[in-house]
Amino acid sequence: MPKIKEKRMEEIRAMSNVFEWSDYNSSNPFPKGSWNAEIFRNANPIVLELACGKGEYSIGLGNFFPEKNFVGFDIKGNRMWVGANRALEEGINNVRFFRAYIDHLDQFFVENEIDEIWIIFPDPQLKKDRKKLTSPKFLELYRPLLKKGATINLKTDSPELYEFTKDVISKENLILHRDVSDVYRECPNDPKLSIKTYYEGMHLKRGRTIRFLSFSLD
Ligand SMILES: C[S@@+](CC[C@H](N)C(=O)[O-])C[C@H]1O[C@@H](n2cnc3c(N)ncnc32)[C@H](O)[C@@H]1O
Repeated sequence: MPKIKEKRMEEIRAMSNVFEWSDYNSSNPFPKGSWNAEIFRNANPIVLELACGKGEYSIGLGNFFPEKNFVGFDIKGNRMWVGANRALEEGINNVRFFRAYIDHLDQFFVENEIDEIWIIFPDPQLKKDRKKLTSPKFLELYRPLLKKGATINLKTDSPELYEFTKDVISKENLILHRDVSDVYRECPNDPKLSIKTYYEGMHLKRGRTIRFLSFSLD
């Protein structure tokens, strides 16, 4: 592992705003159900950012909505370090990060604990539908953890993932709230959609069109 990655992995272990799945096991399970009372110490809604990378969305939304709590999820500690470090430096108290596989989300949240999910430029997984974060398999993982009517928001440059997700919404009889096929042409002034991540920056440089879907399971 390159030195900088190793150093960051070491450092996130000491950061007060980062949790790591490797700290928990069957004899030391994560204290599920403690996000409001013990971790954020308030009763505010809990919003997840899945595939958060460097955490720009968790931090951006956290600044827009101080009355909500945000948890950025990703497996890459090296990237997460950037967001976690920024949140500590800027004193952003309503954002935490969790280094874990999203596949294990149900080990860290209880039923009806999550108010909203943002999925920002996830890997489109062109060949493996079941690995897409908006596949029926993942939606069933999120379902019990979500409050009724909770929205799932997807921002992507991938036409394939955008069409795949619309197809899932239609086939599974889910509720589509917003369908934006070109974010910067159709709603250039929407502050929630204007937060730019590292990957979005790369896609925009290449002239890719950015798409957005917002839907709920019930
Ligand atoms: C293309 S990057 C996007 C990162 C960030 N959202 C951005 O826009 O810059 C996709 C991220 O998803 C994470 N990821 C993909 N599948 C995952 C999974 N099952 N569990 C945890 N992280 C995952 C990867 O580690 C990676 O950081």
